[in-house]
Amino acid sequence: MSADRQSTYHQVYAAWQKDPSGFWGEAAKAIDWIEAPKKIFDETQGPYGRWFPDAVCNTCYNLLDRHVANGRADQDAIIYDSPVANTKRKLTYAQVLDEVSALAAVLQDFGVEKGDRVVVYMPMIPEALMAMYACARIGAIHSVVFGGFAAKELATRIDDAKPKLILTASCGIEPGRVVPYKPLLDTAIELSESKPANVVIFAREQAQAKMIEGRDHDWTTLVDAAKAAGRRAPCVPVKATDPLYILYTSGTTGIPKGVVRDNGGHMVALTWTMKNLYGIEPGEVFWSASDVGWVVGHSYIVYGPLLHGATTIVYEGKPIGTPDAGAFWRVIEEYGAVALFTAPTAFRAIRKEDPEATFLKKYSTKTLRTLFLAGERADPDTVAWAEKVLGVPVVDHWWQTETGWGIVGNPVGLGLLPIKHGSPTVPMPGYDVQIVDEAAKPVPDGQMGSIVIKLPLPPGCLPTLWQQDGRMRESYLDDFPGYYKTADAGFKDEDGYLFIMGRTDDIINVAGHRLSTGGMEEVLASHPAVAECAVIGIKDALKGEQPCGFVVLKSGVTQSPLQIEKEIVQLVRDKIGPVAAFKIAITVNRLPKTRSGKILRGTMKKIADGDEWSTPATIDDPAILDEIAAALGSKGI
Ligand code: COA
Ligand code: AMP
Repeated sequence: MSADRQSTYHQVYAAWQKDPSGFWGEAAKAIDWIEAPKKIFDETQGPYGRWFPDAVCNTCYNLLDRHVANGRADQDAIIYDSPVANTKRKLTYAQVLDEVSALAAVLQDFGVEKGDRVVVYMPMIPEALMAMYACARIGAIHSVVFGGFAAKELATRIDDAKPKLILTASCGIEPGRVVPYKPLLDTAIELSESKPANVVIFAREQAQAKMIEGRDHDWTTLVDAAKAAGRRAPCVPVKATDPLYILYTSGTTGIPKGVVRDNGGHMVALTWTMKNLYGIEPGEVFWSASDVGWVVGHSYIVYGPLLHGATTIVYEGKPIGTPDAGAFWRVIEEYGAVALFTAPTAFRAIRKEDPEATFLKKYSTKTLRTLFLAGERADPDTVAWAEKVLGVPVVDHWWQTETGWGIVGNPVGLGLLPIKHGSPTVPMPGYDVQIVDEAAKPVPDGQMGSIVIKLPLPPGCLPTLWQQDGRMRESYLDDFPGYYKTADAGFKDEDGYLFIMGRTDDIINVAGHRLSTGGMEEVLASHPAVAECAVIGIKDALKGEQPCGFVVLKSGVTQSPLQIEKEIVQLVRDKIGPVAAFKIAITVNRLPKTRSGKILRGTMKKIADGDEWSTPATIDDPAILDEIAAALGSKGI
């Protein structure tokens, strides 16, 4: 793939290395501050320091008000396209501002103030973005929960965030089925200790929500009344270091981690990436085909494009089946998107359905300049296919919920560097990425190791976990003193390109969705017939990985193993949600363990994946590995 030889990446990265505060101080000038930062970084605050500690700002002002004031009032801010609801809608910056400031006034009527938490449980509709913007406007902290999680997961997040209010909709829509949100939400509130005083529900025509007197309120009625009364909430000044949101992500146990994002650093970092990493100009249409429930959705559906004065697309559909494998090309053509950002899984799905890309002939994707991939490893085969059919550079980039933006990428705006399939390219300014061994010593080029980032992390990355500085240190900072542990493993080549090969913990990545096998094991273990269990992620041609659970039954259990396996699959769906995509449960007589009792999950995975494996020297009884292979074989794996 041709690359711009004039890339300024190396100069820009060197400038950041030489003077990080100068670099971020300069980037901060793109933001309208209420009080501009005088100090750029304070290393004495928080677990590793805080960015822009003395600045005051408002994120919603930077998303909406300033663009309306500066000539973008009539430009589309949000384009909503829903093949599943059969709806299309365009909202200008002025319209979004009007809706958001009225909704913010409604939130204030319920006593929501700066620092209060608001849980947002919404499908991919413009109101989800408005809910987040309205919180930002009044300094409330939103916590969005993905619609594919079950009531119990929602309850865990409600209990941790302790929201004063919940914003939701009557339903989400999956191809072929409506997902009523209200029964899930009611169960979640029943399960939680922390009960929000009020719930505001956006009614969609596909499902009617049963309202609970006194607690539940109709969104449209309240917003319309606020508008009719001419009530609009002004932007509330917040400190740059005040939290904008909490986004829960899978940890190594069933208790998710509340990743905190602040206001100031987040705006500075995302704005920098829109131009320099994604090569987007204000006024252009940027499409991130993710979901507002994930970090990619937060950063590049909800916040990045509008901070930059661009137009965002809210697509409520799938890459295939809504109605066909030409869906993405249609959206690009219809709205003139210049960039598409999605997970490799989406392209694997399209390729599987339409290997010759025949649907592309029906549409013109001439506006598209770049395809960005992230969320899981981009396999070279899929990247090569996407490049061939689209004829544009395919840019893989690597990041995490914790960082909020690309750690390693290929900066289109600075001039594309040569693309190497299988590598997301090079560290972005702000990130000093190193590959180390267990003693935190750098390993030579080409050798696999743990990927760590030298502290401090740049603006936009998590300053801490919600009300858990201790867990922040323990999870990310203690293992490699002076570094942030990414929990990914990989290597660097002789050109400084990084290759990200997989996690070092029990997180798996299913269709670009981050899931904890530890969390699934907790669910399996809760089944009364299960004595022991292990969940591993096994290779899947479409989703990258899929979970596979092994269970040992208690003695005296009379139900058939098949029946119990069915119940376990249902239990994971009920407790974690359909998004866990847990479909394989296998009953075995025993699990392979080391002599000290550690389950050999790594070896089980190799057997399931058909990779080369050897019997670990520490194994208690080698015959068990053959039993595992036979059990997998009996399920056709
Ligand atoms: N609400 C309710 N249920 C949801 C949901 C939501 N928001 N999102 C997904 N689900 C359900 C699905 O309907 C599916 O249910 P099923 O078991 O009844 O079929 C289940 O969760 C698993 O979903 P998923 O793993 O996404 O599989 P899928 O077969 O529905 O779709 C792809 C496969 C590849 C088309 C889909 O994963 C996709 O578009 N991926 C793109 C990548 C992406 O969006 N990544 C996000 C981070 S960038
Ligand atoms: P999430 O927090 O959901 O964004 O998931 C983050 C994890 O997804 C990372 O720690 C990686 O394991 C994986 N991941 C994300 N992007 C990439 C990528 N481009 N290449 C390889 N793995 C990736």
